Amino acid sequence: MSGASSDELVLVPKAAAIAREAGARLREFFAQGVETEYKGDVDLVTVADRTSEKLIRERLAEAFPDHGVYGEEGTRERMEGEFRWYVDPLDGTTNFAHGFPQFCVSMGLEQRPAGIAPEQDGTIVAGVIYDPMRDELFTAELGRGAWLNGKRVRVSRIPDLAESLVATGFPSRKRHDSPNVHFYQEFTLRSHGVRRAGSAALDLAYVSCGRLEAFWEFNLNPWDTAAGILLVQEAGGHVTDFAGGAFQLNSNEVLATNGLIHAEMVGLFKDLFAGRNLAPIPTAHEFAQRRAERAAAGLPR
Ligand code: IPD
Ligand code: CA
Ligand code: CA
Repeated sequence: MSGASSDELVLVPKAAAIAREAGARLREFFAQGVETEYKGDVDLVTVADRTSEKLIRERLAEAFPDHGVYGEEGTRERMEGEFRWYVDPLDGTTNFAHGFPQFCVSMGLEQRPAGIAPEQDGTIVAGVIYDPMRDELFTAELGRGAWLNGKRVRVSRIPDLAESLVATGFPSRKRHDSPNVHFYQEFTLRSHGVRRAGSAALDLAYVSCGRLEAFWEFNLNPWDTAAGILLVQEAGGHVTDFAGGAFQLNSNEVLATNGLIHAEMVGLFKDLFAGRNLAPIPTAHEFAQRRAERAAAGLPR
């Protein structure tokens, strides 16, 4: 059967062709513009998400008839099999819906040994992320490195957070439950900056090729992370939960770094969760009061 044996190179080329085809469809929809529907709160979906998932589901069934497919837009096929693709047919839907050209197709393949408990992770053995607007194809296969358009990529060698560019994202559901804006603030004050570009899969791909030193986010789903975490690992980076423990597809926490700044970031997460070591900044109200006082005293702002 098709599988992840060490001398097999069919997984990534076939998956890459599928991701490219889906990406080309997304590019067409992007050019013509699409209507937006709400799945909940500000969780958007479009005809492009659904069309892309259908195309990927059909192509995967042709290419790998015994592989399972678990897609964001509802696909659950052959879930009992040894191999399972986690598919995000359009990662970055909010960007897409607003004409902001940062989105991708993400496909990660998990190998699940017979008898594994449903809640247990298998091994991610292949990942493909395709950015159709830049024609950038990121690929990884377990033990074979990470690649961008056929060239080997590695994580950056920046040794500390203070010199790093990092990224995060915010949930589109239960937004009022997320504490991430506090982490955003703290990491902004301790790094060259925090990007919130709106596609978690591309953020992970960017860590793998050294454009970013780190990415973290709360409450992502396996279709957001499966491909990207393999890319980061195969590029020499490190992926854990926020405490430095093993990453799990359903763990709701991902911290992916170039490895060199990992311990520093885990330490900061620990401090911030404990309410320690917060960098003071004025509240908007305090700022406005000080501004008014300076204006009253005839001082420049
Ligand atoms: C979203 C994007 C975004 C992240 C959100 C995800 P979607 O995925 O990856 O960057 O911050 O948490 O839900 O909905 O565009 O596929
Ligand atoms: Ca997504
Ligand atoms: Ca999506």
